[in-house]
Amino acid sequence: MSLFDHVGFEHGPQMKNHFMLAPLTNQQSHDDGTLSEEEFTWLTKRAVGGFGLVMTCAAHVQRVGQGFAGQLGVFDDAHLPGLTRLARAIKAEGSLAVVQLHHAGRRSPRELIGTDPVCPFDDPEVGARALTSGEVEQLVEDFVVAAVRCDRAGFDGVELHGAHDYVICEFLNPEANLRGDRWGGSLENRSRVVWEILSGIRSRCRPEFNVSVRLSPERFGMRTPEIVSLYEELAVSGLVDFIDMSLWDVFKTCADPDLAERRLIDVFANAERGRARLGVAGKLYSAEECRLAVEAGADFVVIGRGAILHHDFPRRCERDADFVVRSLPTTRETLREEGLSEAFIGYMGNWRGFVAD
Ligand SMILES: Cc1cc2nc3c(=O)[nH]c(=O)nc-3n(C[C@H](O)[C@H](O)[C@H](O)COP(=O)(O)O)c2cc1C
Repeated sequence: MSLFDHVGFEHGPQMKNHFMLAPLTNQQSHDDGTLSEEEFTWLTKRAVGGFGLVMTCAAHVQRVGQGFAGQLGVFDDAHLPGLTRLARAIKAEGSLAVVQLHHAGRRSPRELIGTDPVCPFDDPEVGARALTSGEVEQLVEDFVVAAVRCDRAGFDGVELHGAHDYVICEFLNPEANLRGDRWGGSLENRSRVVWEILSGIRSRCRPEFNVSVRLSPERFGMRTPEIVSLYEELAVSGLVDFIDMSLWDVFKTCADPDLAERRLIDVFANAERGRARLGVAGKLYSAEECRLAVEAGADFVVIGRGAILHHDFPRRCERDADFVVRSLPTTRETLREEGLSEAFIGYMGNWRGFVAD
């Protein structure tokens, strides 16, 4: 096994190696969600650095679903010129270009969206209100329309952000999503948004479009056994090309007492995968850790903070089997050299121990 072999998918082109750039919010877009020069530089530099697949940050599919200042938008045709330029430049480096589709649900800051955040249920604690059934249908439609827009812009595919307590994850939440209509209650009802969005994307985007989902296996109200069963159903459905498991620590053991002593990666690597591929994210900071993840059964590795620290993380792993990322905290100057603007460096200041004062 080599991290530098190709990885093929059911739909569309293959990845030239086993390295995917994780979706990374960077707050560098313009206020209206259009692409900035800074965001273009940050992402294309990762394509130049050798990532086989470059994923954008979470990009919102509705204005009301914005989660961060300076977030990339995919909810309007005004975003098309920037998206088109970005897709072309990433692909020119031989990387796959994929947009992460996002809606922040109850986590949308009111001061950013100018109204109450919306999510599957009322949440008085954060002042979010429940979507009506009609609004859920519109939400599904807007995810699909955003995917069609990314397809028109020339991206190879889209990833549905179903992790981290954003709107899709909120629908999946068994404790919170007690809706009485067809969008809540049973797992079948709670996961209906995922199926409807994916079916819509498959029927309205070109046949070779790469479609994937990101899931959280635990925390955020998720129950690991439920996520395993959704993962298996998705994997064999033929609708998705890969599932991106957001593990935060690839080699950690499960928190669920029924799965205790099993590592998260082993649970998903051994679950039914059909012809779908498995990507794993979380604390992969060296060539050795990447090799171990693939040896454990992942099809490719998903690199977050390591790719912020080194735009050419894959190339370094290729040159040096013992490569380990630079130690933290790092300096602002280093991050500038790695293609981050002041806005992104400022955001990284929120990640404890990452940037030296
Ligand atoms: C600065 C930053 C921004 C992130 N933004 C997103 C995002 O937009 N979408 C998402 O699904 N995950 C996001 N994540 C999670 C990462 O994609 C990744 O799963 C996580 O950082 C673990 O990988 P790592 O240990 O290699 O950083 C973000 C993480 C960081 C550090």
